Amino acid sequence: MSQSVVSRTSFDPAKLVRPAIHHLPVYSRQPPPENKPEREIRLDWNESPYPPSPCAIQALAEVVTHNRYPEFDAWSLREALGAYVNAPADLIIAGAGLDNVIETLLFLLIEPGDRVIISQPTFMVYEVLVKAHGGEVVDVPLRSDFSLDDRGILDALDDRTKLILICNPNNPTGNLFDSKAIERVAAEARCVVAIDEAYAEFAGSSLRDLMHHYPNLAILRTMSKFAGLAGMRVGYGIFPEALIPYLTRVMPGFCNVSAAATAAAIASLGDKEYNTATVGRIVADRDALADRLRTIPGVEPLPSATNFLLVRLPMADGGVIVRKLAERGVYVRHFSNPEFGIADCLRVSVGTPEDNAIFVAELEDLLRDSGQTQ
Ligand SMILES: Cc1ncc(COP(=O)(O)O)c(C=O)c1O
Repeated sequence: MSQSVVSRTSFDPAKLVRPAIHHLPVYSRQPPPENKPEREIRLDWNESPYPPSPCAIQALAEVVTHNRYPEFDAWSLREALGAYVNAPADLIIAGAGLDNVIETLLFLLIEPGDRVIISQPTFMVYEVLVKAHGGEVVDVPLRSDFSLDDRGILDALDDRTKLILICNPNNPTGNLFDSKAIERVAAEARCVVAIDEAYAEFAGSSLRDLMHHYPNLAILRTMSKFAGLAGMRVGYGIFPEALIPYLTRVMPGFCNVSAAATAAAIASLGDKEYNTATVGRIVADRDALADRLRTIPGVEPLPSATNFLLVRLPMADGGVIVRKLAERGVYVRHFSNPEFGIADCLRVSVGTPEDNAIFVAELEDLLRDSGQTQ
């Protein structure tokens, strides 16, 4: 019988893990309720409630060479994405979701002490990833009407600023920024200005064409939302030509996109009709949901160019209602940081009409119980 060797070292991960990681906020889903509800409706992650195009599902089923690596450089995928956004494939970098593309961009640009400007409240992953790379987050908050403070951003620039990340339309507020404000930032900033257009298809607009005028502009997109491929993890960016030789050095082998995800994404991009119809359906359901919410006294959905709504509630802390909804199996999001000015709100993704109706009924019921509506 072999005897195990006794460890003579003291293993202290705290000494090994990079200092930047020690104080990192954890990006996590709100904890699930103690008693798992029988019926669960996920309206908390801005996913599509609909499956991807049948062409994507068929293409997935046809991928059988799982023993082989995907195509090197993900070239066919980048060509398909390029055709979709009208850009040369060699300006496109793909990744395992847009999160992964942002990570690659930060890996390229950020050393400890470098600065990245963001405008809170915005997509929480930016802060986590920038800090994970040892970067400093400079927050130039949105104005109280959630417009972009372009002057504030330009005033915050300094020699250590490497990147400005602008989420347009913005998550979680849902609004599109004035394109002129973004243009002013791009025109004057010497650093990379990356526009996260994860929800562009719902907005029906993109600032992609501005790339012809501003050599520092990058556009970030994803197949997660409009194409219903969140589970496949396919994101991409269109990057300035001058950045590509560097990006290709840090781009992970095979772009981190699996053969299955590649096949699904290419097939989905080929089915424009399905995607356009699905986006149209979600947008119509979003507007119907907003109209219905407006009939509840004290409830105010804010204008949205996305597949979700930020909804003001008739109470200072919306977290109470969000937790009670979760106990009833309806998951939505709450942003408690008082500095964001949306602690009285919940964010709800647009689901199927049935899911939306259940959400509204439960919300109305809870507000009635709490004496907030008659
Ligand atoms: C603004 C924004 N950017 C990026 C992402 C991440 O997209 P992906 O699923 O492609 O990683 C999300 C997902 O919610 C998002 O809201």
